[in-house]
Amino acid sequence: MLFDSHAHINDERFDFDREKICKQIEESPVSYVMDVGFDFESSVKAVEDAGKYSWCYAAVGCHPHDTKDMDEETLLLFKGLAKKTKVKAIGEIGLDYHYDHSDRDIQKHWFREQIQLALQLKLPIIIHDREANDDVLRILKEEGVFDTARLQCFPKKPCGLADARLLLHCYSGSRELAEQYVKLGATISIAGPVTYKNARKTVEVVKAIALEHLLIETDSPYLTPEPFRGKRNQPTYVMHTAEKIAELKEVSYEEVAQITCENAKRFFDITE
Ligand code: NI
Repeated sequence: MLFDSHAHINDERFDFDREKICKQIEESPVSYVMDVGFDFESSVKAVEDAGKYSWCYAAVGCHPHDTKDMDEETLLLFKGLAKKTKVKAIGEIGLDYHYDHSDRDIQKHWFREQIQLALQLKLPIIIHDREANDDVLRILKEEGVFDTARLQCFPKKPCGLADARLLLHCYSGSRELAEQYVKLGATISIAGPVTYKNARKTVEVVKAIALEHLLIETDSPYLTPEPFRGKRNQPTYVMHTAEKIAELKEVSYEEVAQITCENAKRFFDITE
């Protein structure tokens, strides 16, 4: 049983063979996939996919790259969409200072607005943070993501820590920052790059953070794990990330698969 906590089945790179990919998922050990929106259109598509496939759930939100096209009206449309059944999170939202596809002030503005949407609707948040560690953490704090009011919306984690229902997707930061986030109630998601030869930093994070705070993901069609690096990524490849984590933590593959699946179901409040 595996849960791919972040994939873009809604991406146009799956347009020509989506049915086939979804059939492969059904025949694989992957039991759940979170289909994540990156703009309004892809968020609508994620909700459609979730309606079509029992194992599929949706997150809706505007990626920092696409915030240049956001406006108040679209935010209201997102709000309506977020209330649909099987929408389990707001995301992916955040800041990307690597590509700077949208002006940084615009990125920050819509990051804040979408955090507020998640707080209003009491939904989990999926974060995209690329080379913007300080601003992302500062804004999350300023907007109240770790405030008692938010923490009280959700049951505590099994270890007793508060749960802010905040997910750092495709985590690529330092071990220290990961530890800081976990203390604040966040959850860390590990993607395919942990299988790459140069993954020193992420390897350190996986070793340091307890399995109960980790999720696994593909970020399909991007970030393909070894041994398929270079090909288009797909949710069934999430098993290679699980295998790598098992090796690093010196536990069985089955344990990683089961615990990360349970973690994701709890994080997204999926009971079926
Ligand atoms: Ni993504």
